Amino acid sequence: MEGRSQWGTRAGFVLAAIGSAVGLGNIWRFPAVAYENGGGAFFIPYLFALLTAGIPILIMEFTMGHKYRGSAPLTYRRMTKKAEGIGWWAVAVAFVIATYYSVIIAWAISYSYFSINLSWGEDTEGFLFGDYLHLADVPGQMGSLVPGVFFPLIIVWIIVLGVLIRGVKRGIEIANRIMIPTLVIVFLIVVIRAVTLPGALTGLDAFFKPDFTQILSPHVWVAAYGQIFFSLSIAFAIMITYSSYLPKKSDITNNAFITGFSNSGFELLAGIGVFAILGFMATSQGVGIDEVVAGGVGLAFVVFPAIINEFPAFNEFFGLLFFLSLVLAGLTSLISIVETFVAGVAEKFNISRTKSVLFGGGLAAILSIIFATQGGLYFLDAADYFINQFGVAALGLVEVILIAWILRKLGLFKNHANEISDIKLGSWWTISLAVITPIVLGWMMIDLLRLNIMRGFDTETGNYEGYSNMFIMWGGWAVAIGALVIGIVFSLIKWRSNTSAKEETEDISNVNN
Ligand code: ALA
Repeated sequence: MEGRSQWGTRAGFVLAAIGSAVGLGNIWRFPAVAYENGGGAFFIPYLFALLTAGIPILIMEFTMGHKYRGSAPLTYRRMTKKAEGIGWWAVAVAFVIATYYSVIIAWAISYSYFSINLSWGEDTEGFLFGDYLHLADVPGQMGSLVPGVFFPLIIVWIIVLGVLIRGVKRGIEIANRIMIPTLVIVFLIVVIRAVTLPGALTGLDAFFKPDFTQILSPHVWVAAYGQIFFSLSIAFAIMITYSSYLPKKSDITNNAFITGFSNSGFELLAGIGVFAILGFMATSQGVGIDEVVAGGVGLAFVVFPAIINEFPAFNEFFGLLFFLSLVLAGLTSLISIVETFVAGVAEKFNISRTKSVLFGGGLAAILSIIFATQGGLYFLDAADYFINQFGVAALGLVEVILIAWILRKLGLFKNHANEISDIKLGSWWTISLAVITPIVLGWMMIDLLRLNIMRGFDTETGNYEGYSNMFIMWGGWAVAIGALVIGIVFSLIKWRSNTSAKEETEDISNVNN
């Protein structure tokens, strides 16, 4: 393997970390999650999760990457040999996410093209599920390949693998330097237009007006933590990998705060933009905001095209800008997701970056084709739900328990971060990671497991989204458990390089530079 890559500048690293964090999760996931979970009242659990789990874990992962200088599996192995499997589990979770995340970006590319002449027509729902996705009748049926998804998917993979082959400084850093400022400008234009539409205030009122009856519900808290983890790209190997390319003299804590607050700032901006637009739609149709709001796929690919049809002027232009911002936000995140396994495989098997991108990235590209079939949307929905709950959230819990309670490394990490950072970590950081996060996340996991297992037996309410037991078994559980098994299997394979020879060395950063 070549010598370890490094970021060219501090700004390059921060932009790449923000690029990873700001993604599809910010633009179409956050506004709907916030609305469904109490609107303005959601901000309390959201802020709590951000300050006691999101930012503390981000600081911890930046510290781990900087200190141990390895991909996630190598970083965990350098902490203790037995933990390598957790690193591979995180990489496997990232791998699964990459396979379907790429497909959503492919849809956004198609929709950028459709916006040129608003070819989705009046019935935007019929267009998405029928004309565009040719959705299969029953979940579990794969059907044939959908060319309209497959061809943009090829474009997505060419861009992502092309950037990754060029390396950290010449590939990832340059891509983010171009895409992130472009995204901010494009998205600001959309938001400014949105808040000046008639009826915008009605939407903002719905978004910010707190529904305090919901704040004590466990689901609202689960939603807040889930959103923070996915949105900050923590617990699935990304931030450890990115910070492993930091030069020795780097600020950790300040960079983590900048990344965390920029991500939440963008999320809030997306919420304002989306709800202003929904308010416009509701006002022009004379209906309540709850009749136009929809989550996930529905919001971006059904409700938005319908609203863009109604824009007073320049409909095509604003449609293009909106879908282009989804493409840009998605690409910079996907690059970081794929980099986790590119780095892991290159180190473990002692192969060049190019080979690792072609093998690891290539395999993810091939498997992503499953989600470009007629049954793809069902598979995507089940994989997304299960991998987020029993992959990302479970990993977050395992990570904090291992580091805080089993290896007892928080003190060491705190000193490491404090030595090189402007902002000094205090006891809030230790208490958040050792006490608050394990309690809240542990309770969340137990509740989620109970809910999902019980639901499988309950014929009244049924499984997640009412899918059949068989489909949930293969489309959901098998994917989430498979990631864990693959993690363990990979950790048992012998290292082909001597990179791991320093595994018992405490302070790798001192010997590796
Ligand atoms: N952090 C990325 C997102 O929000 C994965 O979409």
